[in-house]
Parts: sequence; structure tokens; C-alpha cells
Amino acid sequence: MQIEIKGLASGQSLFINFEDRDLEQNLLIFLRSKGITIASSCDGKGVCRKCTIQNDWLTCEMTLEEFFQRQNDKKIIINYL
Ligand code: FES
Repeated sequence: MQIEIKGLASGQSLFINFEDRDLEQNLLIFLRSKGITIASSCDGKGVCRKCTIQNDWLTCEMTLEEFFQRQNDKKIIINYL
């Protein structure tokens, strides 16, 4: 299964794979584990608000599964990538 990562700054998309066991992982940690650079200065404490994706959602405050519940097309949009 795949997720699309769309960078608005570059206009580029890339696709990363995930497995069922990844669903409970924190989205920030999951994306970093796949080599996606996610801005953060509070290291996932929900304070800095730099780790946002579309709709101002904080990657550090949701699991991969919670993201899919909000975004059916499994597409993550990151402004600065
Ligand atoms: S990493 Fe700081 S708010 Fe998410």
C-alpha cells in the first residue's frame, strides 16, 4: 500500500510504502522513518506547530490510521517540500 507525499514548493510527488503494522505509528515518526523531512522544533510535543500538513493538521498529534480516516485518498501535502 502506498501514500503520496506532495510537496507544494517543488511541485513534486513521491510515493512511500506502508504496511498494516504502521497504522498505529505516530505520523511524524512514520514519515521521518521513511526519510521525509518534517519540520519540528519541539520534537513532537505539539507546541511548535511546524510539523503541519494540509488543513493545519499536526503530524505529531495523529497516527497514520487517524490520518487515513480524515484523508481518504492517502495524499499528504507539505508546503515546504
Ligand atoms: S513537532 Fe512541534 S507541534 Fe508537531
